[in-house]
Amino acid sequence: MTINPTTPSSTTQSGAPVQSDAHSQSVGQDGAIALTDHYLVEKLAQFNRERVPERVVHAKGGGAFGTFVTKEDVSKYTKAALFQPGVETEMLIRFSSVAGEQGSPDTWRDPRGFAIKFYTSEGNYDLVGNNTPVFFIRDGIKFPDFIHSQKRLPGSNLRDADMQWDFWTLSPESAHQVTWLMGDRGLPLSWRKMQGYSSHTYQWINAEGERFWVKYHFHTNQGVEGMSNEQAAELAGSDGDHHIRDLYEAIDKGDFPSWELHVQIMPYEDAKDYRFNPFDLTKVWPKADYPLIHVGTMTLNRNPENYFAEIEQAAFAPSNFVPGIAASPDKMLQARIFSYADAHRYRVGTNHAQLPVNAPKNEVHNYSQNGAARYHFNAASVPNYAPNSKGGAAADESKFQAGGWENDGELTIAAARLHSEDSDFGQAGTLYREVFDDAAKARFLETITGAVGGVQNADIKERAIQYWTNVDADLGAKLRANLGAGDQGSVDGALAQGGLTGEHDGAQ
Ligand code: HEM
Repeated sequence: MTINPTTPSSTTQSGAPVQSDAHSQSVGQDGAIALTDHYLVEKLAQFNRERVPERVVHAKGGGAFGTFVTKEDVSKYTKAALFQPGVETEMLIRFSSVAGEQGSPDTWRDPRGFAIKFYTSEGNYDLVGNNTPVFFIRDGIKFPDFIHSQKRLPGSNLRDADMQWDFWTLSPESAHQVTWLMGDRGLPLSWRKMQGYSSHTYQWINAEGERFWVKYHFHTNQGVEGMSNEQAAELAGSDGDHHIRDLYEAIDKGDFPSWELHVQIMPYEDAKDYRFNPFDLTKVWPKADYPLIHVGTMTLNRNPENYFAEIEQAAFAPSNFVPGIAASPDKMLQARIFSYADAHRYRVGTNHAQLPVNAPKNEVHNYSQNGAARYHFNAASVPNYAPNSKGGAAADESKFQAGGWENDGELTIAAARLHSEDSDFGQAGTLYREVFDDAAKARFLETITGAVGGVQNADIKERAIQYWTNVDADLGAKLRANLGAGDQGSVDGALAQGGLTGEHDGAQ
């Protein structure tokens, strides 16, 4: 085929020109194809390797690049370079749904992931949160079981209401997050129209070494909006990529979405005897106790050029901290600190951190080496061990302060110590009664009626009615009536009605 002189020639992966993009080499025009056609072999082999394993959770998602600008002075709480007044930091965000596979519709009811990578001057800081401020469980050892129950039955490969409600009702700490999930936040109209949260409590450390506990809230400047169950079902059929499309098209036409970051700060000492466990991921901190403090603005202004290279291969890890920010006693967070980097080594590879989307903008110096697909290496003159007397990089304690807290007690397998007002159902009830308006309450009842109505096993269904009765007695009675279920009372005396009151983290 003759081509335009300005069109580049197709080449093999090693850069040699190829004869044809359309015809394989064969023995005669109608004969068998030949193994000597190495370009055909290369093309098919390369194709077979186009996929990396999808994320075990949050497989379906999309993302964009942007900037975060710190507008207020929060330096008395953290010395993190990105949170100093006026500092502008490049960032990447990936939004996702949790339980569905890579090709699943964007509009299935689910929490939405809100994972941010800040490319700071002191290394990458990843904040891997959701659009809800709490989570279903409070100990990472339950995470694989929880996810199994939300995904597919091993035999039929079908999703199953019985196993979802079996797990939730036997894990009453899930009530608060399931209330968020079955409410309007479980079906955001778009990723642009939802909030983002750290959910976890983290630690901030200032230049004097003072420590604080912190929760992050990203408030959308596009306004919070959800969609109805009917709209979600319709879109699941007509436009499964609704959320990806919405974000991509908005940025493409210059309509850049933005969020204001606020934090709640708890003085270090308050945590010890606060009325509930401030490190329990199933709880929010009432804003009456810890008001929101504005930090700055995140704006998304650039679409990825290549989805696979920049979004599918993006590797977010809660272990990516920077000086001034650290972990907390939250057991879930500690499990996640192991889990993500391990997932990336499996999913993307040992050297995932060297890919452009994952690499920090500052220099990396350490003595790790080799491994599959290694791209960067130290000069031959740099030693590959420490300590060394050759001027190689050395750790400087003054630049880094690991966070910390006092621990005492025996090594044990036990639930966290209960604070005076800890309860599984209290904040869920407050969310339903005091944050949802009448219309939201009606939608909520309709949604849980449909969801619990899908349960086949009578015991599990009764436990689910009891679960919602524990959240709110009136809600439970309405659900029982809607389902036409008889009055059976409690099937599990351990599911006591919680009593926590106080301002809830409402739908701002
Ligand atoms: C993704 C584990 C709890 C938010 C993932 C991935 C794993 C994982 C293995 C896939 C990572 C990858 O292959 O790239 C866990 C474990 C948890 C936990 C073990 C509990 C101990 C949470 C919580 C949140 C969360 C509490 C939110 C507050 C996310 C998000 C992603 C994700 C947003 C997607 C990140 C991306 O866009 O690449 N999680 N997770 N996870 N998780 Fe978790």
